[in-house]
Amino acid sequence: MPTAEVRVVSDITELATEAAELFTWFGQQAMRAGGPFRVALSGGSTPKALYQILAKPEVSGPLDWTRTEFFFGDERCVPPDDSESNYSLASRGLFQPLKISEDRVFRMEGELPSAESASRKYEDLIRKAFRSPAPLVPRFDLILLGMGDDGHTASLFPGTAALEERSRLVVPSTSPKGVAQRITFTVPLINEAAAVMFLVSGESKAAPARTILEPKQGERERLPAGLIRPQTGRLIWLLDRDAAAQLTIAKQQVTSHEE
Ligand code: 6PG
Repeated sequence: MPTAEVRVVSDITELATEAAELFTWFGQQAMRAGGPFRVALSGGSTPKALYQILAKPEVSGPLDWTRTEFFFGDERCVPPDDSESNYSLASRGLFQPLKISEDRVFRMEGELPSAESASRKYEDLIRKAFRSPAPLVPRFDLILLGMGDDGHTASLFPGTAALEERSRLVVPSTSPKGVAQRITFTVPLINEAAAVMFLVSGESKAAPARTILEPKQGERERLPAGLIRPQTGRLIWLLDRDAAAQLTIAKQQVTSHEE
């Protein structure tokens, strides 16, 4: 199981720039291998900065967007035009500016009355798109993740049944803050990915980042994001200086984008 690659940059702009370059690189790799580039986007606010940079032709020009398929690692159970919807953030920040056609975007239907049926529907959709029937686990080229100050990732929150799920790919979940009802990828689906990239910004993430990346005995698995360890894929943690403040690495290495 590969160890995490930890990159510390100065601020959110550098974080988004680094993430956009890696996003484009992973996309080109997938296309060179002959496939579409299948990526799962994360939620929350951090990806907004990434989308702003990725939407610039000079950054994502090398990517063939007609061969990119967008999925979501989690969603709030709200309509797609709700400001709380992860799809809504991606649509405004990325799909509309890049004129991505809707048939390349696979949305979690958070608006459905039942999160359970929406989760099962999305799992079926993923299995069909990847031609990967149970018990196989589809392998995303890249899964983007954020992390909350409680160490949650996607919508896998501490103490929830979703976090313990080890056979389904997509399940309902509940959040203690904000929109309670969620739909989320499970740990096994995330850990099957060819690459997982965490984008973590802000001092409120410093403590969970230290717990996961420089754990004392047995600490890491205590937090949901600490359970994300791809079987064979790459694990990249991109942190800005504030989020990395409690890491020893932060004192030695701040990768500036220009270097
Ligand atoms: C969500 C996310 C969640 C998010 C973290 C970090 O739907 O809220 O998927 O896991 O990535 O809470 O959120 P910020 O980027 O806003 O700090």
